[in-house]
Amino acid sequence: MTPPGKLFGVGMGPGDAGYVTLRAREVVLEASLVAHFAKKGRRGHARTIADEAIGTAGREMALVYPVTTEIAVADPGYGAAITAFYDEAAEAIARELAAGTDVAVLCEGDPFFYGSFMHLWRRLRGRFSVEVVPGVTGMSGCWSRAGVPITWGDDVLTVLPATLAKDDLVRRLGTTDAAVIMKLGRNLPKVRAALIEAGLIERAVFVERGTMHGEIVCPLAEKADDEAPYFAMVLVPGEGRRL
Ligand SMILES: C[S@@+](CC[C@H](N)C(=O)[O-])C[C@H]1O[C@@H](n2cnc3c(N)ncnc32)[C@H](O)[C@@H]1O
Repeated sequence: MTPPGKLFGVGMGPGDAGYVTLRAREVVLEASLVAHFAKKGRRGHARTIADEAIGTAGREMALVYPVTTEIAVADPGYGAAITAFYDEAAEAIARELAAGTDVAVLCEGDPFFYGSFMHLWRRLRGRFSVEVVPGVTGMSGCWSRAGVPITWGDDVLTVLPATLAKDDLVRRLGTTDAAVIMKLGRNLPKVRAALIEAGLIERAVFVERGTMHGEIVCPLAEKADDEAPYFAMVLVPGEGRRL
């Protein structure tokens, strides 16, 4: 009987091909099947990084989200559609693994940091051998490119999804020394209002497409509009001990 294949969650870093690790490259080149998440009609971000860093892969499987931002996450229709999608994607990968195929799932940034891969990992980890290849996170790519050291001395860093309610953002910003606010997109006006209320707007730095083509870095207070793509975040650097 053919021994089962191994599942890899491969962190591809924040965008710049130079930030793909040696281990990520090795796993992608050696895997018999490369899987990647994508929006309908789009090439996934992790797959685009692989194009530049590694070139063409062998066999590929696109895992196409049935919905992304067109339905609110709180809508029951979203949960049902996305759960069914992860169930089917996990079973499609399970069939390949059972047949002895090693499968590398490409992940933007780090697989275990707000990653879609985690939903496959949860469904498959008891049944198959899994290796997670860590990646440079989007936030570390962003603070490096922005030239903004994020935590000094005993600073506490809080990572906040911009999808939280404004009052939650204000409350959490009030109890931290430094913050990273992710998943910006259409939430930027709310995030800006929360930063003003928390007295942090002057420290906030906006980063769009950090380390990718078309990167934009600017103080949030100087950004004239409230337009932001999904691949954007706000950094609030700590001001802790300087020696
Ligand atoms: C679902 S999370 C995925 C995080 C990813 N696994 C990581 O390790 O960074 C997506 C969010 O990460 C942030 N992000 C990731 N990479 C980014 C980049 N290169 N530039 C700006 N924001 C980025 C954005 O806020 C985006 O909405």
